[in-house]
Amino acid sequence: MGAISTILEQSSFSHSDLEQLLMCEGNEMRLLFSKGSTVKEKFVGNKVYFRGLVEFSNVCDKDCYYCGIRRSNLSVRRYNLTDSEILDAALFADENRFGSVVLQAGENSSPAFADRITNLITRIKQLSDGRLGITLSVGEQSDMVYRQWFEAGAHRYLLRIETTNQSLYRKLHPDDQLHDFNRRMDCLHSLRAIGYQTGTGVMIGLPFQTNGDLVNDLLFFQEFGIDMVGMGPYIEHSETPLHKFRHELLPIQERFDLSLKMIAVLRILMNDINIAAATALQAIDPLGREKGIKVGANIIMPNITPGFYRNDYSLYENKPCVDEEPAQCKGCLDARIALADGEIGYGEWGDSIHFINNKRKG
Ligand code: 5AD
Ligand code: FES
Repeated sequence: MGAISTILEQSSFSHSDLEQLLMCEGNEMRLLFSKGSTVKEKFVGNKVYFRGLVEFSNVCDKDCYYCGIRRSNLSVRRYNLTDSEILDAALFADENRFGSVVLQAGENSSPAFADRITNLITRIKQLSDGRLGITLSVGEQSDMVYRQWFEAGAHRYLLRIETTNQSLYRKLHPDDQLHDFNRRMDCLHSLRAIGYQTGTGVMIGLPFQTNGDLVNDLLFFQEFGIDMVGMGPYIEHSETPLHKFRHELLPIQERFDLSLKMIAVLRILMNDINIAAATALQAIDPLGREKGIKVGANIIMPNITPGFYRNDYSLYENKPCVDEEPAQCKGCLDARIALADGEIGYGEWGDSIHFINNKRKG
């Protein structure tokens, strides 16, 4: 126990300290979780903010080896919500005082797509009298397009780097221009320069990934000065190329624990950022997201995609809540957050305190 409790009292951490934290088990792990929880309480309080997630299309140009909706998976029934279905979902979020929506979809870099998103941003702002915050999660785009969306009113952007180990990145993606690590990194820099609250994240427990890689991921978040992080366990999908490595993976419970440890360590490392409890946690443990909240996360993204389409946005297997309608999800979440000793920040944007502090400094 000695080593971990000593590390937890430090105010800065070496690579090897962080690696030790990721390796701890049993009582030491519980100590880490309780530290994550205390730091969270102190710097960002116990409020949990909702972002209503609209997975508006599973049509995707990309072919990532881990993802169930990759272009080459021909057994996916492709869908694209109509504008009015998306606006209805936003209205639902506003009426239920969710504070923000996240528009997420497979990647599409056509000009028609860019204009469609601009128009949707404008209309969501109008229908909510400016109340709803808008986060986008639609992949790599040109600087000009990111700018166009920011000017229309989007203020946060999520683009996971997936892993900062470039040779691992190459094993997870086809080797072509569409899947280029440096381009993805450039996008993150461009988003930040434009003024977005910028979010990234990684998958945890990927084949060939080491704890050392995960520590480098955490140090990257810190060095970049990221505002928001969403990271969750990698979960295999049988219709993807990566599935053949399923025997190399950590057992699912260990992947889950490692994900919670990553959240707790990140909270200790970056006190005032927003950390999402990823839905993938709940694919492993029915109380997964609540556990994420307990150890350091402060954001939940309830799925408000109309129920009919949910089964078709299967990035990984066992995705939770696919048979629920948005209204059922909301009732369920109220109870769940109370169980995790959290309070829901209804009607608030819940901006990243890190972002606000940095703006003041700048
Ligand atoms: N397991 C866990 N997360 C996944 N994602 C894609 N496929 C999987 C999977 N098999 C995550 C990626 C992507 C986000 C939208 O979903 O990190 O950025
Ligand atoms: Fe979706 Fe409970 S969170 S049904």
